[in-house]
Amino acid sequence: MSEIHKQADACTMIIFGATGDLTKRKLFPALYNLAKQGFLPDSFAVVGVGRQEFTSEEFQRKIEADLTQFIGKDVDKDLIKWFVARTHYTGGDFADKKTFKNLQKLLKDLDKQFDIPENYFFYLATPPSLFAPVTEQACESGLGDEKDGWRRFIYEKPFGHDLESAKNLNYELAGLVKETQIYRIDHYLGKETVQNILVFRFGNSIFEPIWNRNYIDHVQITVAEKLGVEQRGGYYDTAGALRDMIPNHIFQLVTLTAMEPPVSFEADAVRDEQAKILHAIQPFTPEDVLHNAVRGQYGEGVITDKKLPAYRTEENVPPASNTETFAALKLSIDNWRWANVPFYVRTGKRMAGKQSEIIIQFKKAPFMLFRDTTIEKLTTNRIVVHIQPDEGITLHFGAKIPGPIVDMGAVDMDFNYLDHFGETISTGYERLLFDCMTGDATLFQRADMVEASWQIVSPILDVWKAIPARNFPNYESGNWGPDESDALLRNDGRKWKNSTDK
Ligand code: BG6
Repeated sequence: MSEIHKQADACTMIIFGATGDLTKRKLFPALYNLAKQGFLPDSFAVVGVGRQEFTSEEFQRKIEADLTQFIGKDVDKDLIKWFVARTHYTGGDFADKKTFKNLQKLLKDLDKQFDIPENYFFYLATPPSLFAPVTEQACESGLGDEKDGWRRFIYEKPFGHDLESAKNLNYELAGLVKETQIYRIDHYLGKETVQNILVFRFGNSIFEPIWNRNYIDHVQITVAEKLGVEQRGGYYDTAGALRDMIPNHIFQLVTLTAMEPPVSFEADAVRDEQAKILHAIQPFTPEDVLHNAVRGQYGEGVITDKKLPAYRTEENVPPASNTETFAALKLSIDNWRWANVPFYVRTGKRMAGKQSEIIIQFKKAPFMLFRDTTIEKLTTNRIVVHIQPDEGITLHFGAKIPGPIVDMGAVDMDFNYLDHFGETISTGYERLLFDCMTGDATLFQRADMVEASWQIVSPILDVWKAIPARNFPNYESGNWGPDESDALLRNDGRKWKNSTDK
């Protein structure tokens, strides 16, 4: 058990869409892990709200079974009991006032039973179309009103499907609750390795002086998955790789890598700097989309000896679908630090390996010194921030190969989380839920950031919609994406670093 630094405020979490997968796989295990580490107070309760009619007892039995399954063999039975006693359920239509009346009554009873002040946070694990209607119903029934305690609302992604819908949603929510009550979640910010980017950059004095255009040649960010669309064909086909990953997860990685040091770690100080990067990313003209954006869709292929189907034959995907399952962009950040340092980003499904990492590629050392030696190509330096599946940081540099002649080999200095800190059990949601319970919005998206992100990708979505891809499928499952993606870097004399490279 780790040292107890601080506990969450006494509060109740209300989950809309409580019978879904997210609740089972991530939210309850994350609450369990927080409780296990002593971060949850005794005055705590959870209420599941869903369309299905369960009694609280039935829901409790389900939660007990789910937790036992997800936590595995080391499950703490007493803690599960503690948990289950604090978990209740109320069913009903989210459009029906009665559902909210029942919820209100249940919350009052739980407040009394567990000595909880009226601090409530609502987690909307629902389709985005319900974000505003559910918030509205909650507010109409008085549950959004902060006079007797705090009230916060967490919204899952996707937050809008383009700039206009994101703006509309922000506008609707702003009419119901204050921006400070809104927590737009991006689960990438719950990852330890992602949070560590700020500590790595600003908590060490050796990296920051070289973290700029004078030393860095370019940055590569890859979020590649081996999995296909699995059972999510219905949603995914309306979204595509660009919407699904880039304005949210990948832009988090871009902003944390590129931002200026914030004046403090206060939520708005950090988010102001992130927002500045989003505003500095050069908008894509239609011409840029043709040259600096690549899309792909997976065809059949083989991954670890398994023959896999093409995207167009996946469940709930139309046979002539033109949705991209791969996207790569060359981004230009137009500010003093990053002028002429391209950020290449790519994401895709059914790729050759699971690889989420940020590569900071440094410029080559001058050749002069080694002119008369056998070293023709100097190894360039790079820092690799491994986000998953390995978690750590690698510094790649050149070293003399022992022997009578001067020859150079490439070597790595590795920091690995597991070796240094041991295994930390985490779903990635612990920190985010805890932050919401303590009122820290640093790792959540502000309205302006969401809009700035959509603003960057909207012209690409528009061009791709207007000119459907004619060569889909254009990469085999088990590849690193279409040839055009390699060409995007090759045209600049560069190359993607793939985890399968020797
Ligand atoms: C989700 C996307 O937000 O992130 C999925 O909708 C994707 O398509 C997932 O698979 C990736 O998350 P992680 O944490 O597995 O990298």
